[in-house]
Amino acid sequence: MKQDMIIILDLGSQNNTAIARAVRDLGVYSEIHPHDISPDKLSQLPNIKGIIINGGKNNLIDGVKIDVNHSTYEAGYPVMSVEHESAACENKRENWPETDEEIKEVLKDFIFNTCQAEPNWNMKNFIEDQVELVKKQVGGKKVLLALSGGVDSSVVAALLIKAIGKQLVCVHVNHGLMRKDESETVIQVFKNQLDANLIYVDASERFLKKLENVSDPEQKRKIIGAEFIRVFEEEAGKLEGIEFLAQGTIYPDIVESGTKTASIIKSHHNVGGLPEDLKFSLVEPLYHLFKDEVRACGIELGLPEAMVYRQPFPGPGLGVRCLGAISKERLEAVRESDAILQEEFTKTGLDKKVWQYFTVVPDFKSVGIKNHARSFEYPVIIRAINTIDAMTASIEQIDWPVLIKITDRILKEVPHVNRVCYDLSPKPCATIEWE
Ligand code: XMP
Repeated sequence: MKQDMIIILDLGSQNNTAIARAVRDLGVYSEIHPHDISPDKLSQLPNIKGIIINGGKNNLIDGVKIDVNHSTYEAGYPVMSVEHESAACENKRENWPETDEEIKEVLKDFIFNTCQAEPNWNMKNFIEDQVELVKKQVGGKKVLLALSGGVDSSVVAALLIKAIGKQLVCVHVNHGLMRKDESETVIQVFKNQLDANLIYVDASERFLKKLENVSDPEQKRKIIGAEFIRVFEEEAGKLEGIEFLAQGTIYPDIVESGTKTASIIKSHHNVGGLPEDLKFSLVEPLYHLFKDEVRACGIELGLPEAMVYRQPFPGPGLGVRCLGAISKERLEAVRESDAILQEEFTKTGLDKKVWQYFTVVPDFKSVGIKNHARSFEYPVIIRAINTIDAMTASIEQIDWPVLIKITDRILKEVPHVNRVCYDLSPKPCATIEWE
């Protein structure tokens, strides 16, 4: 293994991720693990140099105080505890200092003086370690990957191609909720340019049928997730020897779907909707990465910049942007208005500046005038946000002339639409997606 690692134990503190990132900023790889990680699990993690027990006031589950396993102190690693009364270690701190600079100093002292860790965290080493871990996990077996063409699945594909070559079978499912021309682009890039082992499945009608009359967002996500897995199982059934399913799960997905100590905000289909009878074991090489680190990994793997810096697209696709029960009419309105937004953003260079931008069509109508007559049609909502890691977000302040041009085009070119709105809400209180 190339890189040293610091483990952070999660006792429900709000700053687990900030501490993990601060450790990585000091050049040492860090992972967050559950407070009650077993000695067995701990001993399987490679190159541990030290453990940080990150206590705090939220160390409660159902009103009962939680603690780390006592064996953690006896595992032979240096341990530092912060704001954890019952800690049994030499490095015991009442709390973290106030400023980021001071926190950095505390971490530096622990990581480099106490733990003697090397600052060897970089993407080259991360990739080499993951290649080794994946090879060990997979052996000679085949791995199936849902290749949506988004950053995460593309980076997983590139990483796995490096690790196991043709043992990776990429499946691109067109669930009918893709952006305009998106599936065509995936085929073009992966099949034609990257020569991946790619299977294309058009399952549009099947997904739309399953989603008929379903309006609850969580229900929609679960149906899409479950249907995805079923399509993969069918594809796997046609192939010989598939035992693993690769996923582009990244750290924010895990946090927002609820760790043991964090409440559920939203279930993301790639971690929330897996059916109980799942036959595959999971391969998730990006599990501990933040979004910006995934991009750096993609660049290091030699993926084209346009692909690596491409804006994210949620697994359930336009399905969570066509609000409520999906209708073909409104789905087309989302797809067409989204395409106009993409086009205009590309013309003005906003595509390189804004992190995520899309349109949403709600399931209610408003009154308007079209061709001198009363119209009763759908609104389109534009959303454009900036963020580092999708955990918080601010809106892009788009120039009025650009917004007006986009509005004009949507009103002229998209059927069944008579109104365009701009969403001004940051995250929090809003989430990035509307559902
Ligand atoms: P939210 O709406 O939770 O979105 O603020 C944060 C980021 O995650 C994307 N997103 C999803 N990605 N499956 C995904 O793979 C999902 O169900 C899902 N929901 C939201 C969203 O587009 C944003 O980038």
